[in-house]
Amino acid sequence: MLIAQETVSASRYGLPIPYGWYCVMLSDELEAGDIQTVRFFGQDWVLFRDANGKVGMFEPHCPHLGAHLGVGGKVDGELLRCPFHNWGFDHKGFCRNIPYAKAIPPKLRHDPVLKGLSVVEANQMIWAWFHQDGAAPLWEVTHVPEAGGAGWCTRRHRLFEIKTIPQEIAENSVDAAHLKYVHGQEAPLGVDSCYEGHLRTTALNGPMSIVDSQGGRIDCEFSVNFEQIGPGMQVVRMSRHVTLVILITITPVESELTHLRFSFLHPDYSGDPLRQTLIDDLIQEQVGERGNYVGVQADLPIWDNKAYLRKPLLCDGDGKIMEFRRWFSQFYE
Ligand code: FES
Ligand SMILES: [Fe+2]
Repeated sequence: MLIAQETVSASRYGLPIPYGWYCVMLSDELEAGDIQTVRFFGQDWVLFRDANGKVGMFEPHCPHLGAHLGVGGKVDGELLRCPFHNWGFDHKGFCRNIPYAKAIPPKLRHDPVLKGLSVVEANQMIWAWFHQDGAAPLWEVTHVPEAGGAGWCTRRHRLFEIKTIPQEIAENSVDAAHLKYVHGQEAPLGVDSCYEGHLRTTALNGPMSIVDSQGGRIDCEFSVNFEQIGPGMQVVRMSRHVTLVILITITPVESELTHLRFSFLHPDYSGDPLRQTLIDDLIQEQVGERGNYVGVQADLPIWDNKAYLRKPLLCDGDGKIMEFRRWFSQFYE
């Protein structure tokens, strides 16, 4: 008997943008006095940093007569000045100055007039809370102490633009079977996740041996601790002779286009040539190719082209994909 295959619709996913905190920029990409127009969550936004270092992120059109604040707008001390009539708005979206008016109209005084997103800076990144209905943040951005920590290096941000949704990227880490066929990983790592509210965690450890670049074998303990915090943030802490933290951010650009960023954090190994080589190898392995193993780049063509099946035909070696999907569905409610 033929099992009916699910029909794939024109919109590949048919899902809204999930709510959560999303990385919209690295902190050092926006200096005091900068304004940038960015595109996330299916629309343009204007991001600016005032003279005190505070960041605001707003819909681009001025509520006075509709000029685009990101085209000719300027930062003037604590205010973002509109290019059209020079009204000034603070990082919370309040109108604080109209240079040619005797007084700010009463209806502009009590509430923000620029419509924007809640923004925080954490882990050397700017994060925005997006919710389809405009609801207030439901959790705080997790602090990653290694990011900017004393004795730690942050390097090699790798950004990928993928024709997919955050759920599909996250589902990859519970998809045990693909590890062999996509990444060339011999022992499938089918470990259970622990789910609690907006958090998902997994831990794994055991003995392993690695081959250094001169072909020497090194026996070591290895461990991986994985945390997913909402749909937009993952922290992977790996240890195998060297320690590597991968801060992964997943940010929707359009409803079916997503930015995936890998930031690599590790202790400063600059005085230790062997560990420096091993950390370089480990980073390379995570994004590129090393031996038989291929990192995240092997997932990209699958994500770019796959369809999303609500009722996939699963088998016993597949991992707990539907359990993961039930957890993730909270971010659409
Ligand atoms: S349109 Fe912005 S100040 Fe007039
Ligand atoms: Fe993968």
